[in-house]
Amino acid sequence: MTILLRMQAIAVTRSARAVLHGATLALHDGERLAVQGGIGAGKSTLLLTALGLLEHQSGTVELLGQVCKVEHDFAPLRGKVGLLFQDPEDQLIGPTVLEDVEFGPLNLGWDARQAHHAADDALDQVGLLHLSERPVHELSGGEKRLVALAGLLAMQPTVLLLDEPTVSLDIETTDRILQILLASKLSMLIATHDPLCVDRLATRSVRLEHGMITD
Ligand SMILES: Nc1ncnc2c1ncn2[C@@H]1O[C@H](COP(=O)(O)OP(=O)(O)OP(=O)(O)O)[C@@H](O)[C@H]1O
Ligand SMILES: [Mg+2]
Repeated sequence: MTILLRMQAIAVTRSARAVLHGATLALHDGERLAVQGGIGAGKSTLLLTALGLLEHQSGTVELLGQVCKVEHDFAPLRGKVGLLFQDPEDQLIGPTVLEDVEFGPLNLGWDARQAHHAADDALDQVGLLHLSERPVHELSGGEKRLVALAGLLAMQPTVLLLDEPTVSLDIETTDRILQILLASKLSMLIATHDPLCVDRLATRSVRLEHGMITD
């Protein structure tokens, strides 16, 4: 089976603290793999490292079949691999919902019509087409999470990296996000400590503890 993301013996140090040391995992095509772990275990660090937004000091990251070490290796893959940040404030750039969601496709070099169409489709997918003209800063937390997700879906990715996709959402919005993610049929790596996310979304789960991944 195709491996979309392979992380082998990854070490990452942040502010002189070893956060990951020897973390190894593989995400296969068609999988929704949950990475569980306590607060500060390094789940966000793992996802940021998978996409090259944090440097790894040793080990190998192989993304969509390419070994990636430096920015130059990761950059061309960022449309195909969408990362949903733990805090949507880190993701959204606005000014309006539509402009925000169009930004990714435009950044990939799509023409204005294609980008607009993709953004409309993605907003429809998350059920927020009616908010297209709204300023991003006026949205609720749940709406921001959904718009951030639409921004990823608009780029028609192959794989999603989701950092706590349901954290601090009410049960209805959690349910909605889980349904959208399931309907997307995408492969995904999900950092979470929400049991609902593991039970309803994941096809497999691993734990991140002491900087390493265990089954
Ligand atoms: N910007 C940063 N600079 C330095 N250290 C950081 C930074 N962000 C996180 N850390 C440290 O890295 C470690 C792992 O943090 P990380 O955010 O990856 O954990 P997490 O598993 O995602 O936690 P949470 O469940 O709270 O989201 C923690 O010890 C944290 O203090
Ligand atoms: Mg985190």
